[in-house]
Amino acid sequence: MNNISGKNIVLGISGGIAAYKSVELLRLLVRQGASVRVVMTRNACSFVPPLTFKALSGHEVCVDLFEEGSGTSIRHIEWATEADAVIIAPATANVIGKLACGIADDALTTLMLAVTSPRMICPSMNTNMYENLVLQRNLDRLSDDGYFIVEPGTGELACGTSGAGRMPEPPVIVDRLCRMLSPDDLAGRKVLVTAGPTREPIDPVRFISNHSSGKMGYALAAAAEHRGADVVLVSGPVCIPPPVNVDVVNVQSAEEMASAVLSRTDGVHIIIMVAAVGDYRVSNPADSKIKKSGAGLVLELQENRDILKEVGNRKDRQVVVGFAAETDDLVKNARAKLLKKNVEILVANMVAGKGSAFGADTNQAQQTTLFTV
Ligand SMILES: Cc1cc2nc3c(=O)[nH]c(=O)nc-3n(C[C@H](O)[C@H](O)[C@H](O)COP(=O)(O)O)c2cc1C
Repeated sequence: MNNISGKNIVLGISGGIAAYKSVELLRLLVRQGASVRVVMTRNACSFVPPLTFKALSGHEVCVDLFEEGSGTSIRHIEWATEADAVIIAPATANVIGKLACGIADDALTTLMLAVTSPRMICPSMNTNMYENLVLQRNLDRLSDDGYFIVEPGTGELACGTSGAGRMPEPPVIVDRLCRMLSPDDLAGRKVLVTAGPTREPIDPVRFISNHSSGKMGYALAAAAEHRGADVVLVSGPVCIPPPVNVDVVNVQSAEEMASAVLSRTDGVHIIIMVAAVGDYRVSNPADSKIKKSGAGLVLELQENRDILKEVGNRKDRQVVVGFAAETDDLVKNARAKLLKKNVEILVANMVAGKGSAFGADTNQAQQTTLFTV
């Protein structure tokens, strides 16, 4: 799902206080397998020295339009031509104004006029500067010209005030780069994804749950959003950040997840049920904390609703994708589940070994579809 690996990215840095965040942004891009060339404005060099970006990118940093490039090439034209994408982060009010007017008086702004690949701008500045009508007009113009504008975050700013204007954190910028470079083939489609575990209360402080981290469902929700879908993510309790531009509905128990999913399926084109929903809940959860009594404790459990089956039975030309985590007879169990739940695709996860299921960043799965059964 990483469409950055192997890409030539130009990272433009202008003279804003958030230039220090571009160091981490560069590291993330390089870690994802991109080849990154950095172009800085003269003023950006007052915030972070070019040597830092040279060392981390493994390439010379371009600051001066008239310094000599490799061989006989004209560097800003060569880099612009070879770029698969350009990001300017931080983008100062000054650079935004110059780009909106087609001014090309330094290496960065001149290169931008020669770029034909997708271009992203990450405005970063004081709130009053950001809300200034001239700045907003310039951003509108850049948006009309096809620039991908990443909205700044809101919060504490370096100037001591609080408001809109913070440069988004580097992982968010990398995520938006994935969005910018993805095809729009799910535009106009609504996708519902479930993720994470559920929690079934025993008493006010204890619950029954499972090891689901939510990573698979969150990654699928992000991938659908990158391809232009309108995504709702119904999530059990997890410890990972929400995907950008996805409507997240937080739930705790299987019953809450069932209500949240079943009330949102109308008009949805694709339903991907990744959540590890508890099969059982405690019949009578205690109202106050259960104390040790010296004897054992027996909990009576009752079955939860089967959300995947209900979705499979109710569906109306929707594509429903189920997930199965199995410890034995992977394909046999997955095929049985595919038929029983009336779904189109069943992804069968083997819960075994390193790098597979529960909490790993990688996974091994087999896909079973109606057509191969
Ligand atoms: C300490 C300091 C912090 C600044 N931070 C920002 C900023 O975050 N955003 C911005 O648009 N301008 C900021 N400026 C103003 C720009 O540096 C100034 O407009 C400059 O002309 C930008 O040049 P450049 O766009 O060529 O890099 C800051 C200036 C100073 C002195």
